[in-house]
Amino acid sequence: MPNAIIIGASSGIGRELARVLASHGYNVGLAARRVELLQQVARDIPTAGFVKMIDISQPAEAMQSLRELIAEMKDVDLFVISSGTGFINPKLEWGPESETIAVNVSGFAAMANVAAEHLQSRGSGQLVGISSIAALRGNGHAPAYSASKAFMSNYARGLRHRFAKLRLPIGVTDVQPGFVDTPMAKGDRKFWMASPEKAAEQIYQAIRKRKKHVYVTRRWRIVAWLVKILPDWVVHRL
Ligand SMILES: NC(=O)c1ccc[n+]([C@@H]2O[C@H](COP(=O)([O-])OP(=O)(O)OC[C@H]3O[C@@H](n4cnc5c(N)ncnc54)[C@H](OP(=O)(O)O)[C@@H]3O)[C@@H](O)[C@H]2O)c1
Repeated sequence: MPNAIIIGASSGIGRELARVLASHGYNVGLAARRVELLQQVARDIPTAGFVKMIDISQPAEAMQSLRELIAEMKDVDLFVISSGTGFINPKLEWGPESETIAVNVSGFAAMANVAAEHLQSRGSGQLVGISSIAALRGNGHAPAYSASKAFMSNYARGLRHRFAKLRLPIGVTDVQPGFVDTPMAKGDRKFWMASPEKAAEQIYQAIRKRKKHVYVTRRWRIVAWLVKILPDWVVHRL
């Protein structure tokens, strides 16, 4: 049976992905801060669930805890880093900006680092990062969020380059969702909102096909294309 670890499995996309992976025979390591929610997921899935409390805003402790979870599961084929936070921050207060950077930048990199270390030691596997379409352009309503997502996507790309240089068959998948119906879907102009179930199914297909990059849902590629080509003066008026 393959083993996967999902960091951010207590809610939303990560929780649904745990269910999808388990339905395809994966044992799943479930990590996040809210242990009681993780335990509920572990009870619901048909395969083995390994619960671990990890707060990725504390990188040193989080790295140690992830190593412990890997050791408990003995071997891990697939890592998904779904944990993330973000705030609409019109007053540009430092608290939310700093928390976003701690979780989405330092926390993400710390988890990816431990995952890469394990995948390299076994010589194969896959790492998936849940970034966002927000990575594609700076956003004045949530500057830290959009910048942190650009970091995630580029860190994933950097690891893919690293594994290619090492000639290791380790896949890295950068997932960029649009709106998904979870507590993280913020803003008052939401559209094309996908259910977490649909998002998780599309992410699973991307994992199965070992894709380098995917927009979720697929039609968000149209928005991505627009976001990339629109000049600043148009974006500033939107
Ligand atoms: N929903 C959307 O519209 C959307 C769009 C684009 C991208 N995304 C991205 O998708 C990912 C998953 O978000 P979601 O939509 O599924 O939202 P969600 O339901 O709120 O899930 C967020 C997950 O992140 C975990 N998390 C937050 N802070 C953490 C910390 N310090 N340490 C460990 N885990 C932490 C939460 O677990 P605990 O609170 O239990 O720790 C939870 O499991 C995020 O990276 C988000 O940026 C979401």
